[in-house]
Amino acid sequence: MARITPFPGSKDRSDEIRAETGQTPPRQASLSLTVRMRRNRKADWARRLVRENTLTTDDLIWPIFIIEGTGVRTPVASMPGVERVSIDEAVKDAARAAALGIPALALFPYTEPGLRDPDGSQALSPDNLVCRACRAIKATKPNIGLITDVALDPYTSHGHDGLLDGHTILNDETVDVLCAQAINQARAGSDVIAPSDMMDGRVAAIRAALDAAGFMDVQIMAYAAKYASAFYGPFRDAIGTNATLVGDKRTYQMDPANTEEAMREVALDLDEGADMVMVKPGMPYLDIVRRTKETFGVPTFAYQVSGEYAMIKAAALNGWLDGDRAMMESLLAFKRAGADGILTYFAPYVAEKLKA
Ligand code: PBG
Repeated sequence: MARITPFPGSKDRSDEIRAETGQTPPRQASLSLTVRMRRNRKADWARRLVRENTLTTDDLIWPIFIIEGTGVRTPVASMPGVERVSIDEAVKDAARAAALGIPALALFPYTEPGLRDPDGSQALSPDNLVCRACRAIKATKPNIGLITDVALDPYTSHGHDGLLDGHTILNDETVDVLCAQAINQARAGSDVIAPSDMMDGRVAAIRAALDAAGFMDVQIMAYAAKYASAFYGPFRDAIGTNATLVGDKRTYQMDPANTEEAMREVALDLDEGADMVMVKPGMPYLDIVRRTKETFGVPTFAYQVSGEYAMIKAAALNGWLDGDRAMMESLLAFKRAGADGILTYFAPYVAEKLKA
């Protein structure tokens, strides 16, 4: 490697100068460049000054799986570091989230197989897992946001998000049930109703139903652009629908090939009264996040789904990548794409890292 001479004709004293002064000695430029992009990257303080996006704890929503029992924490095999927790343990997780400053939790139930039926009737029970979890968490941590999923899949014996007639998922009949499910959750203390079912017209119907029941301040976070994705696999393990799901969800979730259609979905949900919209999955769909934010300028969320979490975790556990760095980088990417917040199973780990 060529040594750089500090001044033409002089002998190279770089090492001496560095040792004496701790400074990098002047060097002769051999390229004549006015712009050197690396100048702004030369030190940590400089990189921090020009940083365009930051991830903070305020950006995090922590999805939690709830299971029956007391003192139960069962690992989800395909999601290392994620557990299904009983309600008393969920209350502890809520306390942990509150202490870390995580704004909100998203609750998902693992319904006992014996309670699942073709119509998903548990969704309407005021004593289902999600409702009991909402009441228990609100009783101790009233200031943490609770987001509850509206869709029938955790409750149906066939694992679909709606009612079935043969192989057809019924739209309008399902929407009626979703409205009742939303009211059931609002009564239990849910702050945000998050319809993830992708039925047509459900946001308007749920909004009207909530208002009529006196819940005009309950927000709606619409899974507006939700794709029929392979990345939901580990989630379906967690809530126990992988084994039971009949067929796939392509007649209601979106085709991964489409972008324009996502814009129509988002526009419709906003017209129907959605307060916030979500794109799902996350990382493979950052283009949709960016377009949604640019086109509509509304609160836009992304769901870093179970399969994305599993990929990073699996590679990290194999020593194939630095898990912590990949976690932080993947989440910062959502901010760069324009997301206001991210649903992520990494939430408590990220919050701990940001606090450290
Ligand atoms: C169910 C629902 C799913 C997810 C959130 N709500 C799965 C599905 O549509 O089958 C996926 C979340 C994840 O993979 O982390 N309506």
